[in-house]
Amino acid sequence: MTTNYSLQKRLGLGLTLGVTLLWLLAVAASGLVIRHELDEVFDSALQETAQRILPLAVVEIMNREMATAPQRVLSLEAHEEYLTYLVRDAAGNTLLQSHNANPEVFGDQPQKGFVSTETHRIYGAAAVRDTYWIQVAEPLSHRFEAVREALVALLWPLLLLIPFSLIGTWWLVRASLRSVRAYRKAIATKGAGDLSPIQAEGLPAEIEPIAAAVDQLLERLRRTLEAERSFTANSAHELRTPLATALAQVQRLERDLVPGTQLDKARQIEETLRNLSRLSEKLMQLAKAEGGRLLSETPQDLVPVLALVVDELRRTAQVPLQLDLPEGHPINSNLDPDAFAILVRNLIDNALKYGAADQPVNISLSSEGILRVVNAGPLVPPEKLHQLRGRFVRASSDAPGFGLGLAIVDAIVTGIGATLQLQSPATGREDGFEVVVDLRSTCS
Ligand SMILES: Nc1ncnc2c1ncn2[C@@H]1O[C@H](COP(=O)(O)OP(=O)(O)OP(=O)(O)O)[C@@H](O)[C@H]1O
Ligand SMILES: [Mg+2]
Repeated sequence: MTTNYSLQKRLGLGLTLGVTLLWLLAVAASGLVIRHELDEVFDSALQETAQRILPLAVVEIMNREMATAPQRVLSLEAHEEYLTYLVRDAAGNTLLQSHNANPEVFGDQPQKGFVSTETHRIYGAAAVRDTYWIQVAEPLSHRFEAVREALVALLWPLLLLIPFSLIGTWWLVRASLRSVRAYRKAIATKGAGDLSPIQAEGLPAEIEPIAAAVDQLLERLRRTLEAERSFTANSAHELRTPLATALAQVQRLERDLVPGTQLDKARQIEETLRNLSRLSEKLMQLAKAEGGRLLSETPQDLVPVLALVVDELRRTAQVPLQLDLPEGHPINSNLDPDAFAILVRNLIDNALKYGAADQPVNISLSSEGILRVVNAGPLVPPEKLHQLRGRFVRASSDAPGFGLGLAIVDAIVTGIGATLQLQSPATGREDGFEVVVDLRSTCS
């Protein structure tokens, strides 16, 4: 299983780590170069010093009365001495030394050229046919310190670079993904039945092909769904006339027949034809419910539509239909009145079919736009309740039906972005069935 990762986090950490490593490598390489160059400069200074001091020292020693007595050069004022020197004769006797010189550093016997000990870099030179020797020493720690200070100065910017790189990458990625976020929002806010292309502007070149592929996919889906819907609608429509004709012919035939087997058979055919006619009617409703265009531009009052449907159904209903409407209060909604009538008719039809034979059906529409249809009757088990929105799904065979009513209601509700709730038992009762359709999102 792959887990999702954040591009911002990954790029921020990756780039910062990469830049830090590169910086450290560059500092290490600079350290080597600096050290090499400093060695050259310091060595040259050492050599120069020895060659400058030696002739002066020789002259001074020769002018002395006791030339072999060692003499320490007095310092003019107290200072830290980086370079110390020692002037000796060929036998190794010290003739002259700088005020801080430590003879142990220079070894027993003077040598020409550069020598490195554990602690010092030493340069030796001789004059007057190797009679007088000078050695100038410089502590290695001095050179290390110079290199170390240069490296520390190069490392300081890293402290700024790390947070700047993290924040900079985070901001840059965030800014670059702004159009992608807008695209995501455009997809998320699209209505369930809206399969039109997604408006995507200013997408990065890497994401552009994905958006194009999504649009193509939506277009293919839209065409397939449209083909399916128009097939359902057309077939149901085409069946209407032949069914009506067949029904009329059977009824005419029944009139000519005397009571008996032939008439019974004709009546069965009539019932089957009526069933087929009801099925084609339901299929047309389903095609309309799934076909989009369920919302109208101008809001219309739902109250008269509901009152009309209830009045019409009252004429054939065996139980009272109790209608509860907000008094003198229009409920303006963008829901297409035809679609609303189909929705209400299916719900009340169900309540009449499956509700208890001796108890009324309650229908109410609140002023906010919440429709409730409640009936008494046996409980519907919870596991069945979840499946009832599916096409051709039924929970009881007490009354004839195709299992399409709630699928039609669900298609309308989903198409307009409203919500449908099925409950059994009904609120505040121990039995019965309650359907709640929350139309608030379509109301103005
Ligand atoms: N008001 C209700 N009370 C009790 N059960 C219900 C109610 N409404 C629906 N049902 C259960 O849900 C099932 C599905 O209902 P739906 O309206 O989708 O199909 P139908 O009524 O069986 O057939 P159709 O509506 O297509 O003629 C029903 O068969 C019934 O078992
Ligand atoms: Mg039904």
